[in-house]
Amino acid sequence: MQLVKTGAFVRAARAAKVAVAAARFPAPAFVQSRWQSSQAQTQDAPDEQAFPEQSVDVSREVDPAKTAAASSKHGRHSELEKKLQESGPENKIIHDTEGSGAKILGTPYIFDETSNLSGSILSLVGRNLYEHPDHPISITRKLIESCFEEPTFKHFAMNNPVVTVTENFDTLGFPKDHPGRSRTDTYYVNSTHLLRTHTSAHEHSAFTWLNNNPSSKGYTICADVYRRDSIDRSHFPVFHQMEGARVWAPNADRAALIESDCNNMPKTSLQVEDQATDFSTDANPFQPEHEHNHEEVHLVARHLKLSLEQVIDRIFQASQASLPSAARSSFGPMRARWIEAYFPFTSPSFELEVAWSGEWLELLGCGVTQQAILERAGLKNHIGWAWGVGIERFAMLLFGIPDIRLFWSTDPRFLKQFTRGKITKFEPFSKYPACYKDIAFWINATPSASSPIGATTSSTSGVAAAAGGDATKASLTETQPAAFHENDIMEVLRDVAGSLVEDVKLVDEFVHPTSGRKSLCYRINYRSLERTLTNEEVNGLHEEVARRMKGLFGVELR
Ligand code: DAH
Repeated sequence: MQLVKTGAFVRAARAAKVAVAAARFPAPAFVQSRWQSSQAQTQDAPDEQAFPEQSVDVSREVDPAKTAAASSKHGRHSELEKKLQESGPENKIIHDTEGSGAKILGTPYIFDETSNLSGSILSLVGRNLYEHPDHPISITRKLIESCFEEPTFKHFAMNNPVVTVTENFDTLGFPKDHPGRSRTDTYYVNSTHLLRTHTSAHEHSAFTWLNNNPSSKGYTICADVYRRDSIDRSHFPVFHQMEGARVWAPNADRAALIESDCNNMPKTSLQVEDQATDFSTDANPFQPEHEHNHEEVHLVARHLKLSLEQVIDRIFQASQASLPSAARSSFGPMRARWIEAYFPFTSPSFELEVAWSGEWLELLGCGVTQQAILERAGLKNHIGWAWGVGIERFAMLLFGIPDIRLFWSTDPRFLKQFTRGKITKFEPFSKYPACYKDIAFWINATPSASSPIGATTSSTSGVAAAAGGDATKASLTETQPAAFHENDIMEVLRDVAGSLVEDVKLVDEFVHPTSGRKSLCYRINYRSLERTLTNEEVNGLHEEVARRMKGLFGVELR
């Protein structure tokens, strides 16, 4: 039997044989969440700003095609569309006899067989934490933006996470079988639209904007991004990324200009080792199909690396400054290294790692932008670099925040600890008790590419590809996966218990010697950040999880 991989709404949509890609109503202007707008409006201007307030929201200016893209072509489902259109302003999923659909930031979408959104994920769309000036996500964003000065760089925030599959993957050169495209890893609104899995989804629009605004030479983008993923203290299905890029127009003195810019960059206190300087091999090549001047590519790579070292240095300095002076001296210089990487939209490509608590911690990806991407945006014969970082990882290190769910907390004991422009260490408030519950079940499918566990998983699990997707967990032929996938139980848990789940671990695996059936046992840690959960409440949640696992995936509970 094929195991069903999606939520009830998708099954309902399938049953109704919904074949329509998207709704036809235009996307309205960006919708601010009540939380965000009320807090933001009551902020007084700070006396002292450590980082400049320089960003603007120009998502529609950058992305005028968005309105047209979200609407579409069909004439059916008019009743459902109408219902969605006329429903209240908040994000929601509606099922009716015609099918199912969602309203996201005011725009209706009709589901099809690819849809896999859940109400719990939609409830997080529109919070815009990066626009709340005293929130650690926003403070970190400003710190990063302060390394890329206006007017050379323009700072964007992109509030609407719904983008087309083309924007998120195709335009960037993602192969059709890239694990990031899998429905087990990505939230699809329908077969044409999805919740962006990375800020690179806006590269084309932003490069097009640069082409039309040549007084700017670069940009940063800040946005919320969405990935179906495991549940633990450093993974949450929504997180924040920043993306940056810099281009140089054709110019006879271009190499000299880039070089002089490099030479003028301030020295940092980092101790950097560069293991990615050879672009002559297939491992991390010059772009073979373009006649790049190799000397220029080396200079662009150097400029990119030096620019990002400034970011790391500024973050490290800010983090040091937040420590008591006795603790500061115990740190030696921050060690960092550049290693080779692969991204479909850059070549050569790099990752920057820093030595942190005895391990190399990956902080960001970057590279020399694929020429085809620049040309498609009208930037003929330009050359440029781009990078992408996850904000939470920086913010957790900077503020000492131990659990990623805290960023979403509305608890004043959390929010009141932070002030714009300042890095202060998080003071933990009382931790409420954990409640562990196991769920064990037989899965019907034989182990396959999508098996959550396997011989190789323990060493490589969690290795996310660009734009998401874990090659060790995803089934590569994405549309109708054949077996149970670990992200399915994660999604059920998120839907049933939301942020009351702290982490989920596979604790046992067993293959029946005669039937060959596999049994899995997951241990779920239910814990609220805000209160003590009662036994009764946890039992209720856990029973609902079991019921859905049985109903949705046909597993046999043990
Ligand atoms: N989008 C990548 C990710 O989510 C990060 C990234 C890597 C962005 C390289 C870039 C880049 O612009 O050049 O993992």
